[in-house]
Amino acid sequence: MKIGLIGGTGNQGQGLALRLAMAGHEIKIGSRSLEKAQRIVDELNKKIEDVSAALELLFPEGKMDWVEKKEFSTPNEMENAKQNLVGMQNEDAVKDVDAVLLTVPFEYAKSTLEQLLPNMNAGTILVDVTVPLKKVGRTFVCETLPEGSGSKHLAAIVPENIPVVAGFKTISAHRLMHIERPLEGVDVFIASDDNEALAKIVEMANSIRHLRGIEVGALLCSASFELMTAVLITINIRHKTKQTSFRVTI
Ligand SMILES: NC(=O)c1ccc[n+]([C@@H]2O[C@H](COP(=O)([O-])OP(=O)(O)OC[C@H]3O[C@@H](n4cnc5c(N)ncnc54)[C@H](OP(=O)(O)O)[C@@H]3O)[C@@H](O)[C@H]2O)c1
Repeated sequence: MKIGLIGGTGNQGQGLALRLAMAGHEIKIGSRSLEKAQRIVDELNKKIEDVSAALELLFPEGKMDWVEKKEFSTPNEMENAKQNLVGMQNEDAVKDVDAVLLTVPFEYAKSTLEQLLPNMNAGTILVDVTVPLKKVGRTFVCETLPEGSGSKHLAAIVPENIPVVAGFKTISAHRLMHIERPLEGVDVFIASDDNEALAKIVEMANSIRHLRGIEVGALLCSASFELMTAVLITINIRHKTKQTSFRVTI
């Protein structure tokens, strides 16, 4: 797939860009600033080089095949990642792609979308990754929004010819950025009122090795997993970690 990321220069955007590039998708990292987008792509390429070199040291050719070691990323994934990242302004990143991932802080999501929606092609799927988090003391909760969830709130301004999907909200940037390891045991929740778009984004999630996209249901289901993100962050703080995630047993 061709995928653009709005605010792809941030923590979550970079992590998703890397994992999707490793899975072979063409990634446009968007930013308000072209220079910043290009700098972040340079930094990510350096990271890919460093991780590749470390894995080569760990598993020299002939001694052990990375592919056999399921707990590590493969040379093929690293090669994909090197080839599939480009940086550009948000306005260009959202054009002529199959899906756009919205990865800006929730407080700026609506105004950013309003500005960029005219640049999106009809049929491009908008994937909302944002979470309307609010901190109360040491506890994270979600803002109460009249539409029922952050994704529903944003979907209210999106034209009907752009399907809205909520997803990738319960996986941490920290876990995504550790590209030497596949995402073993991690599920992400996906919801949409458009069944075709829902299936495509579940497939996109499943294309990342070991990650599982779980089809939850209608877009309003995002209300539940936005709250689950708040639970994860609160657990992370209490247990001094950055990489908790959910696994559903079916
Ligand atoms: N971090 C996580 O682990 C995580 C996990 C799940 C979900 N999320 C959600 O993903 C979203 C992004 O999180 P993040 O941690 O990546 O955020 P972030 O690093 O703070 O920001 C992401 C990007 O948003 C852009 N941005 C910042 N201020 C903006 C503004 N006023 N207008 C337009 N764009 C602006 C910036 O890009 P440019 O300066 O390049 O334009 C920035 O690099 C949030 O909604 C968060 O709730 C995050």
